[in-house]
Amino acid sequence: MATSAAWTPLRLRELSVPNRVWLSPMCQYSADDSGVPTDWHLIHYGARAIGGVGMVMVECTGVAPDMRTTAQDLGLWSEEQVAGHQRLTSTIRSLGSVPAVQIGAAGRKSSHGVPWDNSGTRSPVGRENGGWQPLAPSPIAFASLAVPTEMTTLDGTRVLEDISRAARNAHRAGYEALELHGASGYLFHEFLSPLSNLRTDGWGGSLEGRMRFPLEMVTAARTLWPDDKPLIVRLPVSDLIEGGLTVEEATAVAARLGMVGVDMIDLASGVLTPEAPRPAEPLHNARYGPQLRTAGVPVAASGVIREADHLDEAIPDLVDTVLIGRPMLRDPYWALRIRDTDPRESWPKQYHRAF
Ligand SMILES: Cc1cc2nc3c(=O)[nH]c(=O)nc-3n(C[C@H](O)[C@H](O)[C@H](O)COP(=O)(O)O)c2cc1C
Repeated sequence: MATSAAWTPLRLRELSVPNRVWLSPMCQYSADDSGVPTDWHLIHYGARAIGGVGMVMVECTGVAPDMRTTAQDLGLWSEEQVAGHQRLTSTIRSLGSVPAVQIGAAGRKSSHGVPWDNSGTRSPVGRENGGWQPLAPSPIAFASLAVPTEMTTLDGTRVLEDISRAARNAHRAGYEALELHGASGYLFHEFLSPLSNLRTDGWGGSLEGRMRFPLEMVTAARTLWPDDKPLIVRLPVSDLIEGGLTVEEATAVAARLGMVGVDMIDLASGVLTPEAPRPAEPLHNARYGPQLRTAGVPVAASGVIREADHLDEAIPDLVDTVLIGRPMLRDPYWALRIRDTDPRESWPKQYHRAF
């Protein structure tokens, strides 16, 4: 039986990842009051590690208290949080997967409710209820969330320090790969897009100006993240709406990201504004892979990858690796089930008597 390219190892800097089917970062909104991982995270990520993904990408983790989406997000700014993440990384590694974490600064999409109270990004949480004032490149609100404060140079310096500290803490916690969240309409994305960045100073205007602070964010992460470990950026390839970031612009940004030490671009799209369409076609982000690859950096993608045929179509022709989101919420063993091999070759030996 031929081995699909999806199940072959991938090397990024000194890291060898056993296969190219990875868990996509997905917020669990289940941190304790100090932003520390809980038993939920340990079992949730541990089950997916047993489930055969090459890399477990832990959810978007705030670089500072006011950079989180909700008060239930994980953080990486305190020693207590580092110790909690150490539990996660040693568990994921001992179960055969590579522990990675996505760090993020939510920008104007900050300080809202958790999704299961049926509100999520539609319900701002004000200071009186334990929320905080969001920062963004320009004072333009996302939907009904608070109007963010326009970032000053001083705010920018502070955010860059937060990112450096989170990268250093991710290393100390034992993560092998780091992803900077540059998409989903968060701070990095807000700077890149002409729809959310109306600045007239050096951080706005032309694409060169709009990508300046995002590049500084990457450099801030790279500085305290070890040279032998890969840095990935989740990058929007298009805002999917008129007047927004274009694929050509994103390709130019990707090339610059390669020059400042980014080892892989994780393709995303849309979500900057509530009006952007939410594509449902299989492989919709992966299809941008060949175009983005012209930037000279390996590419990954998530987005409606549901079947073994999708994996075969994606890897290696469209992207170098895939990240699987919602199917892995429904089934931690999705990656094992989709493998077209004798279960005794892929499933953990403890489960062989099931077959
Ligand atoms: C519950 C949930 C939480 C998510 N949280 C994050 C996140 O923390 N960071 C991120 O970049 N994307 C996040 N996403 C997006 C997923 O990582 C993924 O890119 C998206 O769901 C598309 O892939 P899929 O079709 O396989 O689900 C989240 C998605 C879901 C469903």
